[in-house]
Amino acid sequence: MPPQSATPPRHIAIVMDGNGRWAKARHRPRSFGHNAGRKAVREVVEGCLRQGVRTLTLFAFSSENWQRPQEEVGALMELFMRALDKEVEELHDQGVRLRFVGDLGAFDTPLHKRMLAAMTRTAGNDKLHLNIAVNYGGRWDIVQAARKVAEAVVRGELHINDIHEQQLDQGMCLAELPPLDLFIRTGGESRVSNFLLWQLAYAELYFTETLWPDFDQASLQHAIEDYARRERRYGRVSEQVNQTRSTPG
Ligand code: IPE
Ligand code: IPE
Ligand code: MG
Repeated sequence: MPPQSATPPRHIAIVMDGNGRWAKARHRPRSFGHNAGRKAVREVVEGCLRQGVRTLTLFAFSSENWQRPQEEVGALMELFMRALDKEVEELHDQGVRLRFVGDLGAFDTPLHKRMLAAMTRTAGNDKLHLNIAVNYGGRWDIVQAARKVAEAVVRGELHINDIHEQQLDQGMCLAELPPLDLFIRTGGESRVSNFLLWQLAYAELYFTETLWPDFDQASLQHAIEDYARRERRYGRVSEQVNQTRSTPG
């Protein structure tokens, strides 16, 4: 598959949804679908590397997903453990920097330790920044950023009048990474489900019926091609956007 010629999105985020329905259609337990989703993760990582996308953020487990049946939550935790044991070295060899974003303290010690170890192991890589959102909620992210700002005020380092979007932005989980260009949700639901609420402000949204285990490099390419056809106006009108484009420099 040839790489895209147009500028690829700098940062793609994906709600990897539809594993349960994929398994159900095959009369298998939901965990079978989650396991099958691992291949799709490898596909999108490969696709991003080939197409020059430098940052990829995947929603693997929401702060609300703890409410699922205990058996499913347990199976997901085991899957995360196995995936960490098996995939980290290959990701490292591919030049991927792995980061887990979310309230990581909620995971049991062995899993938490593996996440920290994987982040340390790959910290020097720069080809692709792969963020896995686990026990993540967009509202939680905003609250923890607000707490950091409040702490700076209490310490006397920041005046209330100097709190602007930038100060909150700096406290968000994905602060140092490029702005979110493309949000993808598989599985046919047209909702955000408490993913990157703050970061979504001007992202382009792409929803597909494809269930996550069936999502592959071609599916990613379709989404990127769809994105390439969008006109991002950021509140301006079309003529202004085209003028900026044709102005040299
Ligand atoms: C997404 O697939 C994976 C997680 C939330 C962990 P689902 O498990 O939500 O699959 P559906 O939506 O029930 O098909
Ligand atoms: C969102 O999917 C969370 C992840 C994909 C990790 P859900 O399946 O949990 O979302 P809802 O419940 O359909 O909104
Ligand atoms: Mg779902």
